[in-house]
Amino acid sequence: MFSEYFKNNIVKVSSNITIYTENDKSVKNFGKQWRDYTNVQIDSVNNFTLSYNFLKKILHEDLSILENKEILEIGCGAGRFTEHFAKLSRLCLSLDLSDAIFHNVGKDMENVKLAKANFLELEPKKKFDIVFCRGVLQHTPNPKKSILKIHEFVKDNGFVIFDIYKKPKIGKFHPKYLIWRPLISNLIKYEKFEKFLNKNIHKLLKVKRFVDKIFFQVKFFSDCIIPIWDYKNIYQLTDKQLSSLSILDTLDGIYAKYDFPMSNKEITKLLKKNNIKICKNDSKNNYFITRAIID
Ligand SMILES: C[S@@+](CC[C@H](N)C(=O)[O-])C[C@H]1O[C@@H](n2cnc3c(N)ncnc32)[C@H](O)[C@@H]1O
Repeated sequence: MFSEYFKNNIVKVSSNITIYTENDKSVKNFGKQWRDYTNVQIDSVNNFTLSYNFLKKILHEDLSILENKEILEIGCGAGRFTEHFAKLSRLCLSLDLSDAIFHNVGKDMENVKLAKANFLELEPKKKFDIVFCRGVLQHTPNPKKSILKIHEFVKDNGFVIFDIYKKPKIGKFHPKYLIWRPLISNLIKYEKFEKFLNKNIHKLLKVKRFVDKIFFQVKFFSDCIIPIWDYKNIYQLTDKQLSSLSILDTLDGIYAKYDFPMSNKEITKLLKKNNIKICKNDSKNNYFITRAIID
């Protein structure tokens, strides 16, 4: 199946998953995260519709656009979107460089095919109607190159949906980049910090929310004091769900090897310079819907 779409040599097929590379050093922690927190963001398991709503939002409430389409999902993780593509499209090829791929919830779904692959190394053969890449590009060594790369996989009349973490207004001076990432990831092992979070997450969230309250919900101050991600008042979830999501995203934010966010302006400039048609630019969430590169 994959050899129809990519020119690269396949290393092996293991438990129905096509392996293109075993060199996954740069994303080892993602493998651990999705192994241990597989279900945290999965709609069908949690009886919520976070991912489904996200898809509806970006596709103007019209998911019929995915019908009969061949989708390439890049950096699928545990499959929060894979499970929806499985139902909504004709075929969904999902790939991830980390061991997350072995935990993807779509693995037994009929029209889903999974590969462990570095998309930056893949050479396209047959192209896709839709390329979907969410939450991934900032975690690659050179996001600008990565944005251009994902456009190699889409048909001329197809489209690409991608996002990238928004660069904070103060850039690398934001406490996440200036203090917390270098401090914690260099001094504390992933496993130890995870254990600490599991034990203390309720207390940490309580303090963080208190600080937010004092500073009129301006998150910058609590971000300086406590390096914990919090989605209260953003998603309507139970306390348990909010805590799990908080642990997952904190580990992601601190231990991802690469974390290079981009501003909407930088992305727009890059797309224009490379003749990529922008169909939608959502500057609030920093996601884009674009067309193939026009030669
Ligand atoms: C933050 S997770 C996002 C997962 C999923 N798309 C979501 O929105 O929940 C980023 C994923 O991208 C994967 N990834 C990072 N670099 C990659 C690469 N070069 N090729 C394929 N996958 C990559 C990681 O292994 C990780 O599972």
